[in-house]
Amino acid sequence: MTQAPPAASGLLSRALADARSPRVPRTVPYLPERAFPWGGPGLHPAGAGGGVDLDRVLRLSLAAPRNSGGRLRPVASAGALHPVRAHLLVGPGCTLPPGRYAYDPRAHRAHPRGRAAADAPPGAVVVLTVTVARTVAHYGHRAWPLLLLDTGHAAAALALAAAPGDVRVCLDADGEELATAAGLPRAADRQARWPGVEPELPLAAVWLPSTPGPLPSTDPLTAWAALPCTFAPIPQPGAGNAPPRELAAARHLLTYLATRADATWHPAARPAPVTDDTLRTRRSAAPSDLAHPPAPELLPQVLATAEGARPDGPGWAAAVGGDTPGLLTTAGVLASGDARPTLARWAAGQRWISTAGAVLVAHGCPADAPPAQIRGSHLTAGYAAGVAQAHATALGLRSRPIGSWQQADLGAALGDAPGHDWIVHGLALAGPADPTPSAPPPPSGKEERP
Ligand SMILES: Cc1cc2nc3c(=O)[nH]c(=O)nc-3n(C[C@H](O)[C@H](O)[C@H](O)COP(=O)(O)O)c2cc1C
Repeated sequence: MTQAPPAASGLLSRALADARSPRVPRTVPYLPERAFPWGGPGLHPAGAGGGVDLDRVLRLSLAAPRNSGGRLRPVASAGALHPVRAHLLVGPGCTLPPGRYAYDPRAHRAHPRGRAAADAPPGAVVVLTVTVARTVAHYGHRAWPLLLLDTGHAAAALALAAAPGDVRVCLDADGEELATAAGLPRAADRQARWPGVEPELPLAAVWLPSTPGPLPSTDPLTAWAALPCTFAPIPQPGAGNAPPRELAAARHLLTYLATRADATWHPAARPAPVTDDTLRTRRSAAPSDLAHPPAPELLPQVLATAEGARPDGPGWAAAVGGDTPGLLTTAGVLASGDARPTLARWAAGQRWISTAGAVLVAHGCPADAPPAQIRGSHLTAGYAAGVAQAHATALGLRSRPIGSWQQADLGAALGDAPGHDWIVHGLALAGPADPTPSAPPPPSGKEERP
């Protein structure tokens, strides 16, 4: 593992403390989504040719749906800003011809960006990157942890869509390796190679092998990293009016965090009874529709899904009210008393949380955590919340992720030493108030700014 230089890791822990502090973000009005930057004619991802149906996988995960009642994407995203982009590294046995592609979620088209590696493994690798300007404009110095959470949600959406086929998810690949595999410039070369292009910061990858049976032992990114980075996007100078200091800091931090040598690929599963239809209909319920407690037998199921989604994820607990309020884990009661009002305060004062049916929280990530742990805690928490939200949806529950947490030192609140056990993500859950669930909310974008 690459060691963090001390100055940079000091910078990182200061940035983490700042994101978790009550300091009000310096933000700007809503920044509209930019045009897709990759030129040339796009290909529809449906086609003859094999085991991995990229049309189906992308439609169920990242594609902007048509006529969807206001939903912008199948996957959830902080502030409905959808900063995650996908690059498709397509080998043999997929519905697109082998090659490198940039995926346009609004047109649902794959834009060719070069040939495939000669020894590309069968199936496809999807490299997930983020463009940070819109999230920084909305959340200021609190944006970068949210960008990691969003990437985790996107990885989960892809993995759920591709299941029950064999799927592997990698949340710890080296950022430079991801960049070279996806045909993006290395961090140090971004500015010089592609001036006027909003940088894409690679953070995760999902592997969809096309053949059943044992997988190749080599990392699927390796073959792709040997190809040159030739096709450039169309420059779109400027980053809107995002605050420049916060913008530079978010880019620097996310690049720095993604510095790790050894990628691990974990298998992904789709929890029963999640179906394609669940993924097609998932929405975050309006805060006002989240006040009814989930059925007592359903809550532990969703909690167990969040807890078990990744072997390397943070811990999960559920805050419930009612006659026996408390903080529950899969192993038993962690604390008694109603934690929801405190959680509402910690979640940037979002008052609806104090009466939510139940609130799942992912916790861990100490104040002095090393870069790999900070990156991993947030990516895996986002991933687990994505899987748990799909599971909750399939069980007929309402849900809404909760991303911004300030001063949320759960360990200290429970009497342990301060600084060691912080909340990194949350998922509010509720039962339906009556047999006819109300209409989903319109896309927020301008929601309460956590
Ligand atoms: C990482 C993350 C953090 C979020 N944080 C909050 C939050 O703090 N408060 C809130 O009301 N909604 C939050 N949301 C929900 C988004 O606003 C919601 O996903 C978005 O508006 C898109 O709507 P949809 O989920 O119905 O597709 C969050 C979502 C994600 C993925």
